[in-house]
Amino acid sequence: MYAQKANAPTRKAVTVPSLRAMKADGRRIVMLTAYDASFAAQLELAGVDVALVGDSLGMVIQGHASTLPVTLDHMVYHTSLVARGLSATLLVADLPFMADRDVPHALEAGARLVGEGGAAMVKIEGAAPHVLEIITALVERVIPVCAHLGLTPQSVHKFGGFRIQGREQEAAEQLVAQAKAVEAAGASLLVLEGIPTALGERITRTVSIPTIGIGAGPHCDGQVLVIHDMLGITPGKRPKFSKDFLAGRDSVAAAIAAYAEDVRKGIFPAPEHCFD
Ligand code: KIV
Repeated sequence: MYAQKANAPTRKAVTVPSLRAMKADGRRIVMLTAYDASFAAQLELAGVDVALVGDSLGMVIQGHASTLPVTLDHMVYHTSLVARGLSATLLVADLPFMADRDVPHALEAGARLVGEGGAAMVKIEGAAPHVLEIITALVERVIPVCAHLGLTPQSVHKFGGFRIQGREQEAAEQLVAQAKAVEAAGASLLVLEGIPTALGERITRTVSIPTIGIGAGPHCDGQVLVIHDMLGITPGKRPKFSKDFLAGRDSVAAAIAAYAEDVRKGIFPAPEHCFD
C-alpha cells in the first residue's frame, strides 16, 4: 500500500499523434480495458499503449447482461479511478448508452469524461448521421474521438444479440463506408469489433487512422480485449476472440505483459480467435 507510486513515468507518453505514427511505422498498438486504479497501474507497468474504460464495466464489474444500464456518472467515476493509475498510457473512455443522443448531451458527456475523469479521448459507437455530427462537434472542441464499428454492444437489441457483423457483402460495404465516414468526421482511432478478418484488413487498409480490433482479425493496427476476458475471470464461456493469458502464468502482470508482447509480435489474435 505504501510502495512507490506505480504511475511514476517510465516511458514516453502515448499521445493521439503518436498513435498515428505507430500505424505509419507498422508498430502494433496494445489496448486493454481497465476500470480501477490498481489494474490501471498493472497496464502502465506492462507498457500497454492505450487503456480503455469501456462501458463493458456494466457487464464485468456491475454484473448486467449488457452495457446499456451504465450511466455517465458511472463512466466518469471509473475513468477518474483509472486515470490515477496511469502516467504514460493514453486514457480513452466510452460515451455510455444515450449520452450520444444529440450534440449537446454528447458535448456535456465528453467534457465530463475529459475534465472530471481525466480521459484524453472518448469513444462513441456507430456512424449514424447524428453520431458523425457529434464526432465533428467533439473534435472541434478539442476532444479527440475513437469511433467504434461492427458489433457495437449498445446496439445489442437491434442486432438481436451479440452477433458478428459484416458477413454479407452489402453489410461489409456499409461498414467500409462507415469507416470512411467516421474518419472524415474527425475520428482519430477506430475500434472494429466482431467482423470477419478480411473485412478488418480491408478497413485497416482503407482508412489512414489506426484501427484497433477485437474479434476483427490480426491485420488491424492494434488489438483490444476486456481485461476480465484475458485474465479468464469473466463468468461463463470465454469469447472466441479472447484468450486466457493468465493460464500457465503466475501473476496478472505476467499475463498483461504476455498479451502486449503477443499483440506487438502479431501472434495474437491467432486463427482460432478470428471470424471468417
Ligand atoms: O466497452 C468496452 O470494453 C469496449 C471494448 C470491447 C472495445 O467497447
